[in-house]
Amino acid sequence: MRKELPATGTDWDSLQAEMIEFGKGDADWRRARTAVYVFNAGEDVLRVAKEAYALYSSENALGPAAFPSLKRMEGEVLDMGLSLLNAPEGAVGNMTSGGTESILMAVKACRNQARAAGRDTAGGEILVPHSAHPAFDKAAWYLDLRVVRVPVSEALTADVPAMADAINERTLMLVGSAPCFPYGLIDPIGALSDLALERDVWLHVDACVGGYFTPFARMNGIPAPEFDFSIPGVRSISADLHKYGYTAKGASTIFHRSEEQREHHVFTFDGWPSGGMSTPTFAGTRPGGAIAAAWAVMHYLGVEGYCEKVRMVTDTREKLMREIRAIPGMRTFGEPQLGLFTYGSDELDPFAVWRQLAKRGWFTGLVTEPRAVHLMLSPAHAQVADDYLSDLREAVEAVRARGERAEGTKATYA
Ligand SMILES: Cc1ncc(COP(=O)(O)O)c(C=O)c1O
Repeated sequence: MRKELPATGTDWDSLQAEMIEFGKGDADWRRARTAVYVFNAGEDVLRVAKEAYALYSSENALGPAAFPSLKRMEGEVLDMGLSLLNAPEGAVGNMTSGGTESILMAVKACRNQARAAGRDTAGGEILVPHSAHPAFDKAAWYLDLRVVRVPVSEALTADVPAMADAINERTLMLVGSAPCFPYGLIDPIGALSDLALERDVWLHVDACVGGYFTPFARMNGIPAPEFDFSIPGVRSISADLHKYGYTAKGASTIFHRSEEQREHHVFTFDGWPSGGMSTPTFAGTRPGGAIAAAWAVMHYLGVEGYCEKVRMVTDTREKLMREIRAIPGMRTFGEPQLGLFTYGSDELDPFAVWRQLAKRGWFTGLVTEPRAVHLMLSPAHAQVADDYLSDLREAVEAVRARGERAEGTKATYA
């Protein structure tokens, strides 16, 4: 039966209790039992994000003249992001609602710049490694373009010679991920940059997962390759604050090497009765809370805090990878250096192992090519790594004993 708006109101205490009850069936992320969707950097960081969000939850970044507070905080968040990503003088950015919107803006800027230069963009192509996020396909769908997915190399990263072969007169954009979502691996951005410069194609780096992680990993001495504006062919970068920036949901950044590029995603209009309106991104109203939370968490953690959180994550990933490889029959894939990795087996069905772990309360991702379990780690996982490993050893034994396969389990994010 369809729910009706109640005829009379209910007091907040009762509503709050009811809502907490709703959440009891959710994935248990507070106890670090999930390794997807939520980035848990500890109670103190969560509190800063939540309280900062609440302080500005009614303010609207559609109106910077009305809210110079938001304009200032957004500008400072963007400046901090530009510095971390080694952006040159003149580089600019915007905050968006998430990685998907940031990618949409990059693709739109690229397409519209080509149009402004007199190119016919009908049937225009975005060339991505097969491991790139579906946000590019979504952007292409909205913008009437086409994504061409190029198989990855044996190392599970972008196959640059194959991408070079796939470039043609319709190609508008090349994409590299830093890292990609399925395997947590950084594509060879330097080689993609050489190709982009040689063929005069826009290179976008999707650093939605790594943009606020890799710079600190590098500061900690992890030999992750360069992926940012220090590489000359990189024209735009998407980097999510609501992932490893540990800020509240609804916060990402899109950066451009120059203002000229960014102008192509700004929408302006004045042919209606209320006069001129200009929006820098897809959204109209933009939540002040997401900007405030980003500003507050970045200041709360600082470089020192982020480096510490990153160290917790990379130490936990190394420990998990080492211990998983030591379980007979189990293996990991590629050489991930950040906070995300996949593992599977040549003997057992990883989806069956995943299902056994799910029965023990662990909610994590899956990968289909190859069949694998996907773990995107947070600092909070440092405390539960041993519990996970002991449940995994049991899960592996159970799957081996029963020769179990999980035909029906699909890696869906729906
Ligand atoms: C590499 C990558 N790019 C883009 C996105 C899309 O981000 P969002 O879900 O914030 O729209 C994700 C999300 O996981 C991602 O992993």
